[in-house]
Parts: sequence; C-alpha cells; structure tokens
Amino acid sequence: MADEKTTCHVPVLLEEVLQWLEPRPGQVVVDGTVGGAGHAVELARRVAPSGQLVALDRDPQAVRLATNRLAELPARVIQASYAELPGVLRQLGLSGVDAVLLDLGLSSDQLADPQRGFSFQSAGELDLRYDPASGEPAWRLLEHLSERKLADLIYRYGEERHSRRIARAIVQRRSRAPLRTAAELAELVAAAVPRSRQRIHPATRTFQALRIAVNRELEHLEQALRVLPECLRPGGRLAIISFHSLEDRLVKHAFRDDSRLEVLTRRVVRPGPEEVARNPRARSARLRVAQRRTNSLEHRNVPEKSA
Ligand SMILES: C[S@@+](CC[C@H](N)C(=O)[O-])C[C@H]1O[C@@H](n2cnc3c(N)ncnc32)[C@H](O)[C@@H]1O
Repeated sequence: MADEKTTCHVPVLLEEVLQWLEPRPGQVVVDGTVGGAGHAVELARRVAPSGQLVALDRDPQAVRLATNRLAELPARVIQASYAELPGVLRQLGLSGVDAVLLDLGLSSDQLADPQRGFSFQSAGELDLRYDPASGEPAWRLLEHLSERKLADLIYRYGEERHSRRIARAIVQRRSRAPLRTAAELAELVAAAVPRSRQRIHPATRTFQALRIAVNRELEHLEQALRVLPECLRPGGRLAIISFHSLEDRLVKHAFRDDSRLEVLTRRVVRPGPEEVARNPRARSARLRVAQRRTNSLEHRNVPEKSA
C-alpha cells in the first residue's frame, strides 16, 4: 500500500495524453482525477514555471498524496468532483483553462488499501466509496436493496448477464448471515455463476456495478460532459480515459453531439502491447480527445441557408 508520499499507481497512456494535450509553459491545465498524480506531475512540469495545474479528486487520501507529490510544482490540489470544476475555477478566479484530463475509475492505491474493499481478496468492509464521507457504503446496499433492484443494478452498471442469479444468491445469503466484506462477496459471486474461461475474476462486473452505483459515477460523468466544454478556452482540449464501455459510450456520443467541440481523435486511442505488458491495468483503457471550437465555428450544427 502507498504511504502519503509514494504511489503504486502507474499512469496509463501517459505519452499519448501529453502528445494530445500539448501542455506548454504558462498554460492553465486541470487534472480532474489526480489519484497518485502520475499524469499531474508531468502536466505541472510542462506548464511551469509561469503556468499552473489545478488538480481535483473526490478521495481525501488521494488529495493528501497528490499534494505531497506536487509540492515543488505550481499546482493547487482540491477535494472536489470533476463535475464541480466550473465552481472551483470561479473560486480560484480563473475564467478558462487550456486543457482538462479525466482518467476515470479507481487508482491502484485505492485497490491496494484493504480497508476500502476494492479488491476481491480484501477482508475489510465492502465500502467502495471514493469519498468516504459521501453516500452509503456498498455493503449497506447489499443489505437493503430488494432482489429485483440488486439484479437491475448489477445488470445495468456491470453489464453482467448472470445478474439475477447473483442477486438471488445475495438475498439468500443475507437472510442467514450479514454480507460485509469484499472477499465474502467475491466468493459468493464465484459460486453463483457458471464457470467460464474468461480471464477476469467472475466478480469483476458485480464489483464494477456496485462501485458505479455508490459513487454515482455515470451521473458525475454526464454532468461533466455538459459543463466542462464551457471551462475550456477556445482551442482548449479535453482528454478522457475510460475503462469500460458504459463510460466510453457516454464520452463518444457527448463529444460527437456537442457543437462546442471538435473531436480530435478520429479513432479511439488504445495502449500498445508494450504498455499492456508493463502495466496490465492499461488493457482496457481508451482515450478520446476533443477541442473547444472558436466561437465562429460553434454553430456548425445549425442548418445552413441555401444560396
Ligand atoms: C485512475 S485514478 C487516476 C490516476 C491518475 N491519473 C494517476 O496517474 O495517478 C482515478 C481517480 O479518480 C478519482 N475520481 C473518481 N471519480 C471522481 C470524480 N467524479 N471527481 C474527481 N475524482 C474522481 C478516484 O478517486 C481516483 O483517485
């Protein structure tokens, strides 16, 4: 597990993010999901000394870690959701920024902390919140949601085809004894679903679903996709790394349909085999980048008058 100065998180698609965002001295850039500050340190170095990095995370532990790692660089680290960026910029007196990065999901530091329940083996409570002061822990959802609601949640946010079997097993189990830890849930799911040859753990989709639900991840992303273009200066860039199709679909459609944005990545950017070999967590990463149009081009979607 990382302490408050070191991180075990390896940043994903780092070179690609730097190439697409092109951070330069004097610019103001935002890392909306600072985590272990892997991307943030490189962004801050490139905008220094006259520029600045604004870094956000919902997780107070990530905020402490990133504050330490960015101490020598021109950076402000704030505990907030990236969806709250417009308010944060107003408070800092900044009217627009040159780039925003979102690297969605959880960090390896969170995964490695047994108290938070993100990993299948952890004997700690199944919490799964990024901000432990907001919302309810996942074990409580398992305690009070009806079988139907559990099945819908696991199907919708996990795209898990065995959602009904898993929900039934959870309800049967909780009538006998409480289901409190990540390890207990992982074991229960593995026993409830048919054996498959998939490389991933059988509980991966169920954990993903609960994590998305307790953190309201898709709501934050949808809100961000509405408000972040307004935070960009004309020509400013927004880069989003997602790790599953629910997120990537939202990003792809929002970029395509937003008349304020021009999509720069004609094809989604994926890590090469060397990066995946070095960092297996990068396997499912997908990067999309869009640029804020200048005002004269913003009304592209309005039908043109015929001559
Ligand atoms: C994949 S990690 C980021 C890792 C980081 N790029 C690095 O290189 O170290 C994702 C981070 O986003 C944070 N996070 C998740 N949802 C968030 C939200 N709505 N607003 C801000 N941070 C969020 C998580 O707490 C986690 O620390």
